[in-house]
Amino acid sequence: MKRTFYLTSLFSILSFTLTAQSALIPIETANNALVLHITSSKDLQTIYYGRRLSDTTEYTLVPAAYRQPGDPSGLFNSAYTPSGSRNLIEPAISVTHADGNYSLDLRFVSQQVTRISDDVSQVAILLKDPVYDFEVTLYYKSYYKEDVIEQWSAIRHHEKGNVILHKYASANLHLQAESYWLRQYHGDWAKEMQPEEARLTHGIKTLDSKLGARADLYQPPVFMVSLNKPATEDEGTVLYGGVEWSGNFRIDLEVDPQDNLRILAGINNYASPYTLAPNEVFATPPCWYSLSDKGKGDASRKVQRWARDHKLLDGKGARLTLLNNWESTYFDFNEARLAELLKDTKKLGVDLFLLDDGWFANKYPRNDDHAGLGDWQPNRSKLPNGITSLVKEAQTDGVKFGIWVEPEMVNPKSELYEQHPDWVVKQAKREEHYFRNQLVLDLTNPKVQDFVYGVVDNLFTQNPALAYIKWDCNAVMYNAASATLKDQSHFYVDYVHGLYKVLERLRAKYPKVPMMLCSGGGGRVDYGALQYFSEYWPSDNTDPLERIFIQWEYSYFYPAIASSNHVTDWGKQPLKFRTDVAMMGKLGFDIVVSKLSPNDLQYVTSAVNTYNTIKDLVWQGDQYRLSNPSDNSVASILYMDEGKSRGVVFSYLVNARYGAGSPLPIRLKGLDPAKKYHIREIDLYPGVASSLEKGKVYSGDFLMKVGINPDVHTGRASVVLALNEDK
Ligand code: DGJ
Repeated sequence: MKRTFYLTSLFSILSFTLTAQSALIPIETANNALVLHITSSKDLQTIYYGRRLSDTTEYTLVPAAYRQPGDPSGLFNSAYTPSGSRNLIEPAISVTHADGNYSLDLRFVSQQVTRISDDVSQVAILLKDPVYDFEVTLYYKSYYKEDVIEQWSAIRHHEKGNVILHKYASANLHLQAESYWLRQYHGDWAKEMQPEEARLTHGIKTLDSKLGARADLYQPPVFMVSLNKPATEDEGTVLYGGVEWSGNFRIDLEVDPQDNLRILAGINNYASPYTLAPNEVFATPPCWYSLSDKGKGDASRKVQRWARDHKLLDGKGARLTLLNNWESTYFDFNEARLAELLKDTKKLGVDLFLLDDGWFANKYPRNDDHAGLGDWQPNRSKLPNGITSLVKEAQTDGVKFGIWVEPEMVNPKSELYEQHPDWVVKQAKREEHYFRNQLVLDLTNPKVQDFVYGVVDNLFTQNPALAYIKWDCNAVMYNAASATLKDQSHFYVDYVHGLYKVLERLRAKYPKVPMMLCSGGGGRVDYGALQYFSEYWPSDNTDPLERIFIQWEYSYFYPAIASSNHVTDWGKQPLKFRTDVAMMGKLGFDIVVSKLSPNDLQYVTSAVNTYNTIKDLVWQGDQYRLSNPSDNSVASILYMDEGKSRGVVFSYLVNARYGAGSPLPIRLKGLDPAKKYHIREIDLYPGVASSLEKGKVYSGDFLMKVGINPDVHTGRASVVLALNEDK
C-alpha cells in the first residue's frame, strides 16, 4: 500500500522556531487529517478535522476559508482548552495552583513524533503555562489504516506545593459543520444500548456516569455525531468516539458561539478534584475517535478492525463456544447435576462448560444473591470434591471448563465482610445501601487489590486446566468512600486504576486465557477494560428479538467477535431464530439440553457445526448492516471475508404484523462486482426445506444492485444464507 511519510518528514523532533507555514501539526490517517495549528502567540488550535488534502501545505489556507463570527479569546478551537484566563467556554482542564490561583494558560513548547509501527504513529505535544510551572503533554496516537485516533493527556507541574485538578479531559475536539446530529445511548438492566438521535443545539449536552462501578448501566461511554445531516449506513460524515475508562466518564458536546462543535471527553470530574504533587504525572485515559465521510457502515468497519487489531484482548484469535448453566440451574445444582451438564456440553458439540454463580461460600452459602459473595471457597455441600474434580471430569468428558467470579464485590452476609469491614466501599457513618444485596470492594486499597487478584490466581493455580473466566460486576457504588484512602476525592479515579492494576497483573501471568467482561448485562463495556478481556456480555436480555436491536447498536462500536451471545429460553421465538441471532457473535448456550425435543437437539448440534464453518467470517470479517430493524420489518446483516469470496447473511423478521416480510430483495454490500457467488441457505431446521432455488449463482454486481430475497415471513422468520465465490 502506498504510505505517505507524514509528520516525521515534516517536522523535526523538537522545534521552537516554526515558520508560519510549518506551524502546523497534521495528524494524518489513510483518509483524514486532524490538523493542529500553532499561532504566533503559541496557542495550539484545531483548524481542521476532515478528509485529508493532497497537498499538506494547503492546510494553512483552511482558517481563511471560514467567515464565522470572531472569537476574541482565540480559544474556541483550542486543542486543550484551559480555564480561568482568557477562556469563557467549557474547559478541558481547570486547576487551582499551589498558591491558590485558579487561572491556567497553555502555550505550545515542543512536539515529538514517534513512529510505532507501519500503521501506528504518536505525536506528543508539550504545552506549558507561561506564568506557572505547569505543563500538559497531549498525545495523539494515530492508526493509519483504520482512520482511528486515540488521544489523552499527561498533566504535571513543578510548583511549590500541590495543585488541584478540577477537570482533566482526555480529548478536546473541534468540528465545523452546518449542523451536528448526536446519536447517544441510554439503558438499564436488560435494556442496554437504547439509541436516541437528535440535533445538537447551542449550549452543552453532557453524557456521563456517576455510578463508579458498572458505570455504563444507564449510559455507555460511546457516541456518534453526524455532520450536516444524520448519516445513513452508506452516506454522510460521521464521527464515532468513546472513552477508554471503566468508571465515571464525562463527554461534553458544546455547540459554541461560532456554531462549531466542541467535544470534551474523559474521566468524569464529578466529586473528583485530584491533588497532584510536584513532579507527579496525572495521565488521563485515552479517548478514541474515528471519522468517515462514507456513512455509519464504513465508520464501524474501521472501528471494528481497529479493535480487533489493536485493542481487544486476542482480537485476532479464536473464541470458545460454550454451555453456561446460569439460566438452566440458577443457584440450584450439585455435582451430579453438573456432571450431566458436562455431558450435555459434549453432546451439544461446544468447546466449554461455564459454571456460573452459586458454586462457593460455606458459612453463608451462596444459594441466592443475598449471601456468600466474597467467600470464594467451593461450597462443600454442593461440590464436596471442589472445583478441581469438576475440571478433571470435564477433561475426561473432552470439554473445557470455565468459571464465574465476581471478585470486586461482597455480600454483607459473608465471612469476607465480617473479617474485613474496612475493605468495603461505604460511608462509615451512614447506613449501608445495597444494589443486588451487595457492596463493592475498595480497590483503591492495595490489600484489596491483592485479594481480588488472588481470587482468580488461586483458581488458576489450583486448576491449571481452567480455560475461561466470566468476570461479573453487578453493583453500582452508593456512599462512595474508602476507609484507607488519604484523599477521598481521588476515590472514583483510583478505584479504576486499582481495577486495572489487578487486571494487568492477571494478564502478565495469564496473557491469553479468555475472560468475559460481564456486568449484570452490559454495564461495563469500554476499550479500557477490553484490553484485558476477550469478550463482553451485551445484556442479560437474551430475547432474540430484543438482542437483534441491542447487538445492532453495539456493533457500531464493538466487533462481533467480542459479543458473547447465548441462546436461552428468553422470548417467544423458536430455537432456530434464537440460535441464528446468537451466531452473530460468539455463540454460547444457556438452555436445558436434556429437555430438548429430538428435533431441537438435532437442530442445535448441527447449528454448532454450521457455526464452526462460518465463525471465521463473523469474528474477522467485515460487517455490513443491510436492513435496519428500526426502519424495516426485516433485519439483515452480512459478514464478508477480506478477500470478498465468502460471506454469510443473517435475516430476521422483526415485525409481527400480518403480511410482514421481505417483499423486496435485500441489496448486499462489500462484494466484488466481477465475482460470481453461489448462494445457499444454511442452518435449516430438521425436515425444513429452503424456499430458495438451489444452486443459483449471481454476480456480485447483481447482488449489490438488485439483491437477493431471503424470503422472510412468519413461516421463515430467520434465514441464514452462505455466499461462496463460484470459481
Ligand atoms: C449477572 C450476569 O449477567 C448473569 O449472566 C449471571 O452470571 C448472574 N449475574 C449471576 O449472578
